[in-house]
Amino acid sequence: MKKENSSLMSFLLLLSLSFLASSKSHGNPASEMVNVLNQNRTAWKLGKLHESPGLGCIALQYAELCEGNCNVNNTLTCEPPEDDFTQVFAPNCGVELPTFGTITGHVLGCGTHYATPEASFSDILFRDNKSLLVLRNRSHTEVGVGMARLHKGTYFWCILFSDGGTNSSFSLEANGRGIKQRKGCYSGSAFSCSNAHMICMRLLNSFLCILLSINTLWVSFL
Ligand SMILES: *[C@@H]1O[C@H](CO)[C@@H](O)[C@H](O)[C@H]1NC(C)=O
Ligand SMILES: *[C@@H]1O[C@H](CO)[C@@H](O)[C@H](O)[C@H]1NC(C)=O
Ligand SMILES: *[C@@H]1O[C@H](CO)[C@@H](O)[C@H](O)[C@H]1NC(C)=O
Ligand SMILES: *[C@@H]1O[C@H](CO)[C@@H](O)[C@H](O)[C@H]1NC(C)=O
Ligand SMILES: *[C@@H]1O[C@H](CO)[C@@H](O)[C@H](O)[C@H]1NC(C)=O
Repeated sequence: MKKENSSLMSFLLLLSLSFLASSKSHGNPASEMVNVLNQNRTAWKLGKLHESPGLGCIALQYAELCEGNCNVNNTLTCEPPEDDFTQVFAPNCGVELPTFGTITGHVLGCGTHYATPEASFSDILFRDNKSLLVLRNRSHTEVGVGMARLHKGTYFWCILFSDGGTNSSFSLEANGRGIKQRKGCYSGSAFSCSNAHMICMRLLNSFLCILLSINTLWVSFL
């Protein structure tokens, strides 16, 4: 092993360890988004919203439908037909139809580069008063967030709100696990995110990804 390679390696190892130590995420950006928006709500003395995995999966399906619709200013114009929610999204997620509740608000956003949930919250999703009004609506009781890296590497976020009973709406079959999704992440999911590249981009603070990057670096140095 060349000397410079091993010192580079130790440097990167140290770097990744410090990242790891400072990491407070549990690896799902969609769930982190729920924490960020609940913090913002509680600062306004509004109740925390329940994280509904079923609603989160519906949000991910919604985001996927918006593929290709990202405007240069990070907004999306994308309204699925009403019937899609119960006839396409719910069955794809394994949401039990009789428990399908009312969606009381939605916020969409996109970007060509990955941004942390905090940055996406303030710079993309809730930068105008209109979406902040949706966030601060007192009739919501639960929330679901979906996020996926889709068309040409563009990231799509979808946040759905509902006024359903927190344990009784958007129930997922298979003991609450629902159907594993092929792409992206959704809040409250029993599964980890399903897009290797995105996970690596996202988890720059993850040990494994740093190790993977070291290997790539190493190969490119040889
Ligand atoms: C963003 O761009 C779209 C399409 O170009 C436009 O309709 C919309 O008004 C813009 N929104 C903002 C907040 O600038
Ligand atoms: C809050 O959401 C409900 C349900 O969607 C809606 O009827 C109401 O107008 C909203 N209130 C505000 C202040 O936006
Ligand atoms: C909530 O989010 C909005 C939009 O990013 C921001 O302007 C506001 O300062 C936040 N409020 C708190 C208390 O963090
Ligand atoms: C948004 O709301 C704040 C406080 O309510 C107000 O000061 C500001 O002018 C509003 N901005 C726009 C663009 O309407
Ligand atoms: C929802 O279910 C959880 C676990 O099953 C339970 O601990 C909680 O009390 C329930 N909440 C409500 C509002 O029914």
